[in-house]
Formats: sequence, C-alpha cells, structure tokens
Amino acid sequence: MLNPNLPNDLDAFWMPFTDNRGFKAAPRVFARARDMHYYTPEGRAVLDGTGGLWCVNAGHTRAPIVAAIKASAEEIDFAPQFQLGHPAAFSLATALAQITPAGLDRVFFTNSGSEAVDTALKIALAYQRAIGQGARTRLIGRARAYHGVNFGGISVGGIVGNRKQFLTLPGVDHLPHTYDRAEQAFSRGRPAWGAHLADALEDLVNLHGAETIAAVIVEPLSGSTGVLPPPVGYLERLREITRKHGILLIFDEVITGFGRCGAAFGAQAFGVTPDIMCVAKGLTNGAVPMGAAISAGFVQDAIIDAAAGGIVDFAHGYTYSGHPLAAAAGLATLRVYEEEGLFAKANALAPVWEDAFHALADVPGVVDIRSFGLVVGVELTPSGEGVGMRGRAVFRKAFDDGLLVRAAADTLCLSPPLIASAAQIGEMADKLKAAILAVG
Ligand SMILES: Cc1ncc(COP(=O)(O)O)c(C=O)c1O
Repeated sequence: MLNPNLPNDLDAFWMPFTDNRGFKAAPRVFARARDMHYYTPEGRAVLDGTGGLWCVNAGHTRAPIVAAIKASAEEIDFAPQFQLGHPAAFSLATALAQITPAGLDRVFFTNSGSEAVDTALKIALAYQRAIGQGARTRLIGRARAYHGVNFGGISVGGIVGNRKQFLTLPGVDHLPHTYDRAEQAFSRGRPAWGAHLADALEDLVNLHGAETIAAVIVEPLSGSTGVLPPPVGYLERLREITRKHGILLIFDEVITGFGRCGAAFGAQAFGVTPDIMCVAKGLTNGAVPMGAAISAGFVQDAIIDAAAGGIVDFAHGYTYSGHPLAAAAGLATLRVYEEEGLFAKANALAPVWEDAFHALADVPGVVDIRSFGLVVGVELTPSGEGVGMRGRAVFRKAFDDGLLVRAAADTLCLSPPLIASAAQIGEMADKLKAAILAVG
C-alpha cells in the first residue's frame, strides 16, 4: 500500500491514461527501482518487462546516470536556451548526431515524445514553406499509430479513443495500418506480407495532389497499438514514394530508438533513412524528461536560409528545450549504451527473446505473437466482458505475481531493459504464460 509516512490523498492526483476510479480503489505503486526490478513500498520485487514505459533501456537507477544528474543539479539549475546556451545541450546534440543515420544531425530538443512529434510536424511545414512549397500543408499519418497526445500527434495518430474526446487538425489524412492477422499471424520479425500497403500513399497523392502534402509520419514499428513490425519492403516503398513526390518522411522513433530494435534506431535496423526522426524515452533512460526532433541537414539549412538576417529562423521552442539536467542525463545514458554495447547486446539477445515468447503460441487464447528486436506483443482473444478486459486481467495477475507487462487492449506488450539476462527473459515468458493460464 502507499507509504503511511506521506500524506497521500489519492484524489488529488488526476492520473494520466488511467481509469482513476479503478486505480484508486486498488492502487499499484512502485517506491524504488534498481537494474531489472521495481519494488513496491512493502518491498515486493516486480521484474520489469516493459522498461518502465518503453523507456528505461539501460536498466533502473544506473550509477553513472544518477551521478551525472546529481553533478549537474549542483552545478546549474536552469539555463535559458533562447538566444543563449549551455554546453551540455550542444554536447548531447553532437553525441546524438554520431549515432543517428548519416545526414540526420540537426537536433531540436523537447521535453517529451509528444512534443518531439509536434515539433517534427512544424519543422516539415516550415521546410515546405521555406522552399516555396507553402501549399504543402497536408499531413499524413496512419491508422493504429500513436504519436503522443498533443494536437498534432492525435491528429496524425490513429487511435480513436485518443481523438474522440477532442478536436483534431484539419488537412490530415491516414494510411491504412499494416496488420492483417490472416496473412501475418505468428510471423517472427517482419511479416513477409504487406509491402504493397505503402502504395496507399500513391492513392492519397492522387486524391489530394502531391503539391498539398508536406509530410508522412509513421512509427517504423508501431508499439502502443500492440507491436506491429513493418512488413518486409514496406518502409522502403514508403521512402521511395515520399521521395518521388517531394514529401518529407518522418519516423517516430520514440519507442524504436536507443537499441529497442537491435540497432541505435529503427531506421538503421530496418535500413531506411527518414528526413526527420522523433526520439524521447530512452534518450535519457527515462530518468529526466526529454525528447528531440532530429532533422536532415538539408531541412534545417532550407529553414535557416529562408530567414532574413537577425530574425528567429524557426519560431518554436520550449522553456526547457535542452535543459541542463536532461542533457546531463542524456550524455550519461549514451555513454552507458556505448560502454556496455547495449544496442549490439539487444541484437544478440533478440533470437533468445523471440524463442522464449513464440513458445507461448499454443497457450489457449493466444491468437498472435509479434516480435522484433527486444519487443514483443502477445495477443489474446477478447473475453466475453469486452475488448481489453482479458488483457487488463492478465496485466493485473502478472503484476501480483511479480512481472510488469503492458496491456494494449488484449495484446500484452513487453520491452525490457536491454540489460536483461537470458534467464530473466525466460522468467518473463514463464510468468506471462502462468498469468494468461490463470486468468483463462
Ligand atoms: C511512438 C510514440 N510517439 C510519441 C509518444 C509520446 O511520448 P510522450 O509520452 O513522452 O509524450 C510515444 C509514447 O509512448 C510513442 O510511443
């Protein structure tokens, strides 16, 4: 239960993406974390199958990251970044540019993935305007996409539940999603079927006119809607069509970045380079909020070149863009990734991961298992109580039995810290299986 030494009014905190009434009737709370585990206030260990929320790629409370945060906090609290600067932000941008695909080396810092997405969309619009293509204002997203919660992100996003309470931007259209169970179920890695779905972009070009389309945004691998790896050839086809029509391609790498797919970014794992990339989460190992929109040089050059001397070139930025604490955490995190070879380790562990979870194919109720790198989605048939109820019941049972998983409707998603051992991967698969069987 909650720490009795702290005043805990459960009603005061309006929790994000939470069934507040349900949670407050039966709270689940973590008090501390170390390496592969969370600990409840009573001291019960919970194996972290989800890297927190797809973000703790180096494991919890790693000493070098904690030390860097402490040192930064003692040295400087805040540094304005509008017309001023702080060394750590420049250092982190430089370090990031060394691991991004060649040509993607202009880093605009934000505080979250949602802000990275809206920033990338604004960069795309500013770029088109800068090169004299101001009529290109249309943005193309994709069904079953999650791009955060800001207005741009929900507009290009493809999750009805995240859109219907609000309003969305005009001038947005969507590609179809890439999932078809009949064609793809139990594929290991990228499904062989589905490259042709990228051709839907040609249909949108025919419908709207290429000269009205600024950018297409996709997650290289959709995470939040249940782990949907891209079909073989799909991203290549999208790249070809966008290039042909002068449309910018944006990859939302908020989940796929920093080793999740067995390379620094999904772009490298899948061999396709976008024009802009959104990152967050693993950028600081989740320790301090931070995101970034990382552009190709030609994109930023065009925007800067179009601005008159002495005028702000891109009228966008956050008070906390490049915050010293976040930049220090990011630098320390990138160092841990490099020193421990965690991206290569994730790649080496991927077959172990795949085997462990695909062994659940015969468990009653499992209708698909989708995996790539160190991420997996195990999909169950919905129970008679409605879509998502079985997934949530398995999440709760696994939590009670010491494993953290994430339920996306009836798909149980796992994306552990990249430091996971083969034995811990086996434990995750065993515990998930037991929870599925227990829930029935
Ligand atoms: C692909 C993708 N984009 C954007 C976001 C939003 O990131 P944040 O929650 O940091 O705003 C997420 C979060 O899960 C995500 O998975």
